[in-house]
Amino acid sequence: MTHIEKPLSINDLTAMKQRGEKITCLTAYDASFSALIDKAGIDMMLVGDSLGMTIQGHSSTLPVTIADMVYHTRCVSHARQRAFVVADLPFMAYATTALATENAAKLMQQGGAQMVKLEGARFEIVSFLAGQGVPVCGHLGLLPQSINQLGSYSVQGKEPAAADKMMKDALGLQQAGAALLVLECVPAALATAISGQLQIPVIGIGAGLGCDGQVLVLQDMLNIGIGKRPRFAKDFMQGADSVEAAICAYHLAVKQGQFPTSGHSF
Ligand code: KIV
Repeated sequence: MTHIEKPLSINDLTAMKQRGEKITCLTAYDASFSALIDKAGIDMMLVGDSLGMTIQGHSSTLPVTIADMVYHTRCVSHARQRAFVVADLPFMAYATTALATENAAKLMQQGGAQMVKLEGARFEIVSFLAGQGVPVCGHLGLLPQSINQLGSYSVQGKEPAAADKMMKDALGLQQAGAALLVLECVPAALATAISGQLQIPVIGIGAGLGCDGQVLVLQDMLNIGIGKRPRFAKDFMQGADSVEAAICAYHLAVKQGQFPTSGHSF
């Protein structure tokens, strides 16, 4: 009889934080990579709205629709056995609690997501969704859906006032019911402090070694992205003889605290 592994739950990820085991995460958008990432032992897959850039070729995540997210989330969740699956609520899909509820339900019921992620200090939305039994992942630091307000994809929280606000926002999201937090492009010292203050796991991307786990965009770590690879992303294909070997190398490097290095941090 074939052994089917039970998918990890948010409790498993929280237990990893508590025992100091680093959580590994990669973005995934289709069934083939989902199966490969799962086989490599990665703990969590994020069906990110970064697919607007990596899969659809747009210059930002803004054109991604909820239908796109449901389709890709379904492809990923069909093929995984163990990894925890988180899916992004795309731009404007959580502008109101009614929209957030409707769209989170689609990602979970039609897509098979175990958790939804949304950007910014949206305490009211997080609290409402959590109250409906929807596990929520917050996302602070660089918020790609706000690129037209930010003006550029740059490090956030460098000034003391911005760092204080981010710490307060992180605590506020936890208080509102978020069960996980992504920090993107944040100074390593600030991300370490936030990870230390929060009980919920903090997953960093360009946020240094002090986070409870790491996520990278798959195309960046395989060095097959369109355009320049961000400074915080390492090319794990270097020295690997297959895609599977590169993903295993990333998994091991994160688990052993060897990635990210200071060269991949701010
Ligand atoms: O959309 C995405 O892939 C993300 C990661 C960059 C964290 O949100």
